[in-house]
Amino acid sequence: MSGMEEWVAVSEEKQLKEGSGLNVNPKGLPVLLLKRSGQVFAISNRCPHMGCALAGGSISGYILTCPCHDWRFDIRTGEFLSAREIKLPIYDFKIESGTISIRIER
Ligand code: FES
Repeated sequence: MSGMEEWVAVSEEKQLKEGSGLNVNPKGLPVLLLKRSGQVFAISNRCPHMGCALAGGSISGYILTCPCHDWRFDIRTGEFLSAREIKLPIYDFKIESGTISIRIER
């Protein structure tokens, strides 16, 4: 059945360090959590180019650079900077009592 959603707890917020990523895999989905300026972002950990793990990339401001071929993404929108119609999936999340949960569509 489509349209079902589920919230999956993935991490405590305090495990997330400013400027460094944390890999989580709710229901097998590769998600990268990032914290910038105190704000949390949840994006796909799989580069839409050839599938490299973005967790190994570098981040500057809100721009994440893939470690494999330097594609650059805005973590706020998921947009690939060189062709904004290409988007990295970004995920809805909530933080309750310090626990981060990701919304999974099934
Ligand atoms: S796999 Fe990310 S830029 Fe090629």
